[in-house]
Amino acid sequence: MSQQAPDSGQVPRHDIADASLASQGSKRIEWAERSMPVLRQIRERFEKERPFEGVRVAACMHVTTETANLVRALQAGGAEVALCASNPLSTQDDTAAALVHEYGISVFARNAVDRDGYYAHINAALDVRPDFVFDDGCDLVNTLHTERKELLDGVKGGCEETTTGVIRLHQMAKDKALLFAMVAVNDTDTKHMFDNRYGTGQSTLDAIFRSTNTLLAGKTVVVAGYGYCGKGVSQRAAGLGANVVVTEIDPTKALDATMQGLRILPMEQAARIGDVFITVTGNRDVLRREHFALMKDGAILANSGHFDIEIDVRALDELATTMNSKIRPQTDEYVMADGRRIMLIAEGRLANLGAAEGHPAAVMDMSFADQALTAEWLAGNYSNLEPGVYDVPDEIDKEVARLKLAAMGVEIDILTPTQEDYLNSWEHGS
Ligand SMILES: NC(=O)c1ccc[n+]([C@@H]2O[C@H](COP(=O)([O-])OP(=O)(O)OC[C@H]3O[C@@H](n4cnc5c(N)ncnc54)[C@H](O)[C@@H]3O)[C@@H](O)[C@H]2O)c1
Repeated sequence: MSQQAPDSGQVPRHDIADASLASQGSKRIEWAERSMPVLRQIRERFEKERPFEGVRVAACMHVTTETANLVRALQAGGAEVALCASNPLSTQDDTAAALVHEYGISVFARNAVDRDGYYAHINAALDVRPDFVFDDGCDLVNTLHTERKELLDGVKGGCEETTTGVIRLHQMAKDKALLFAMVAVNDTDTKHMFDNRYGTGQSTLDAIFRSTNTLLAGKTVVVAGYGYCGKGVSQRAAGLGANVVVTEIDPTKALDATMQGLRILPMEQAARIGDVFITVTGNRDVLRREHFALMKDGAILANSGHFDIEIDVRALDELATTMNSKIRPQTDEYVMADGRRIMLIAEGRLANLGAAEGHPAAVMDMSFADQALTAEWLAGNYSNLEPGVYDVPDEIDKEVARLKLAAMGVEIDILTPTQEDYLNSWEHGS
């Protein structure tokens, strides 16, 4: 690792790929900031109020230009931040370089690092001895509770960004294994209704276009999982003229998709007719051996669920007689014994971050405004919180929506006193 001690000059501890990319990275960070007016306002306020004076933060998040702007806001509020990547393929090496060399933030992230490197980076970020943690998928919190228990005493709380991480945290809390308060930022309306839906919807298709340049109009796109992400992906694919088929295991979600006019099929049937398959379930082995055996020549597979376990890549490897690596950017071609070719995007990892740039900044503005305001709330309230998983206070959610609307120049109505009274009473009938 090209690490330097924090006190050895201006450059903080780091392990990044290429310092010479710093100026390109800072231009892209500033470009993203133009679409993040809510987070910018919060940063400007933090600069004055310094809510994180003397606070150390370890963050395990996608090292993208949008995350860079969140980290800048925390730093402006007085925090010392150490950032590592929550996915080996999502790291933007220029962003990492800019954070270290232009903004003085500790970063441990290199694009395409292997599993050992990934965990070495989490450990290096934890070496900051965090008061607070930011996680995206719960790997940092998990490492803290298993391999870095000596640090647990100092940790006062943290925030979790994604659905999969929140599920893991609830399991930890159920087993009484979680030893501090974690706030489920993913569960705010201003995060999952927008980031998961519009962000994943757009950026997943962006990844498919960048990596295969396929035309979606007239194609059959199979979307596995009709949660927030699945709804976004389905809507966008349908809007581009694709025939969308949804697979689900939850009857209510399946009913919802049916009434949206989408076709629901079990994967065994969908596998035969799909041209493009997108998994967004948060579950494992959603596309597996028996499905690969049924797929058409040229089928494209992309996963946008958090972990790389939704598509059974090992089975694909075993079935293939040849694998043509990087036949297109971030696309591997698996040739089956009968000559059929199946394309896998971004090795089955988060396609929108591995083969595109992740969500557009305008939507991350809200997710990261939620993160920043929740961190401020946590810094003031952690001493009243028992270990467990907490919701973000509703006022924060509403404040982020209000600020975003204001930034977009959209006005809404205000309740009249009579309406307020009516909504708060039970006596009025017809
Ligand atoms: N790519 C990104 O940038 C991004 C952004 C947000 C969330 N995520 C991740 O995407 C995943 C989904 O998130 P979400 O917020 O939509 O979750 P969600 O819980 O709203 O939806 C998941 C859906 O998948 C369904 N499902 C579970 N197992 C299934 C199976 N075997 N076959 C078909 N359907 C199945 C569930 O019933 C549910 O409706 C999570 O892993 C989350 O962390 C990724």
